[in-house]
Amino acid sequence: MEPTQAGQVVVIGSGLIGRSWAMVFAGGGFKVKLYDVVQQQITSALEYIRKEMKELEKSGMLKGTLNAEKQLSFISGCIDLKTAVDGAMFIQECTPEKLELKKKIFGQLDLIVNNDVILSSSTSTLLPTKLFTGLKHVKQCIVSHPVNPPYYVPLVELVPHPETEPSTVDKTYALMKKIGQSPVKLTKEIDGFVLNRLQYAVISEAWRLVGEGVISPADLDLVMSDGLGTRYAFIGPLETMHLNAEGMTNYCERYREGMIHVLKTFGPVPDFSGEIEQQISQAMIERTPTDPEHLNARRAWRDECLMGLAKLKKQMKSN
Ligand code: NAI
Repeated sequence: MEPTQAGQVVVIGSGLIGRSWAMVFAGGGFKVKLYDVVQQQITSALEYIRKEMKELEKSGMLKGTLNAEKQLSFISGCIDLKTAVDGAMFIQECTPEKLELKKKIFGQLDLIVNNDVILSSSTSTLLPTKLFTGLKHVKQCIVSHPVNPPYYVPLVELVPHPETEPSTVDKTYALMKKIGQSPVKLTKEIDGFVLNRLQYAVISEAWRLVGEGVISPADLDLVMSDGLGTRYAFIGPLETMHLNAEGMTNYCERYREGMIHVLKTFGPVPDFSGEIEQQISQAMIERTPTDPEHLNARRAWRDECLMGLAKLKKQMKSN
């Protein structure tokens, strides 16, 4: 082991999220061991990362202060778990979203790690009590839920197990800041964490409005992308309230009754199936057919937009 100034991180699982984390950590000056059970996944991840970093460098969007070649030299593949975690200060698990598989991996890690390393999971749905309860190193365990793609969308939700030590949360928070991500702390676990609870609230009302024939699926999406979403890229819903009146108190005075009235008209939780599903699916397919070529082209466009937005946000912050 040859530690860099910043330290060594292990990424477990080199799929979509694992490769993105590897790039983010390397951008922050960390050495990264990319571990996977499938050698081919590691090989293709390393190729993907090389290509991406070179492109990011060309477009001026490479994270951190080091050039792409230097960052690439920080990332190596590893097919042996024990070798991978040797000397690591932080382990980010990015394996498929299956409870039993993740429990097995954390069980294996529990047997080989020391008392200092942080064990962190990228899970988007599994609660820390399901993943970490009973582990010897539970104090060092945390969920660090990223948003896809983490390279352009910096938010990371930090969710502790009830037995997670505060220092684990603080160290993870500081690490995320150091690598340029935007961490938020949840004080306790809750289904959906915060991001998906907000997302599902929006999705379910969108579903009901289309289902009730109030608006077309395409126009519904425009309400977000050309309306609410443009503001939300810079300020959240609470600050929006504050700024949309003479402060929060004034907003509540003015709009309290109206909000409650509208909220009481919200319907039940949709079942996301049947005729409405078909109608929405059809509208989505008209815009983007579901073959890999069209889907990937639209995703690439989305990522380009996110990259442009990340650039703009950086400029606005430094102004
Ligand atoms: P993926 O399927 O692209 O990658 C999973 C990788 O794990 C594969 O390379 C696979 O070979 C590897 N793997 C399988 N078993 C393994 C084992 N025992 N040890 C080591 N590696 C193993 O999955 P993806 O999309 O990258 O998701 C990973 C995690 O990130 C999941 O928990 C997911 O919920 C979470 N996440 C995913 C987001 C997304 O939009 N895809 C967003 C936020 C979190």
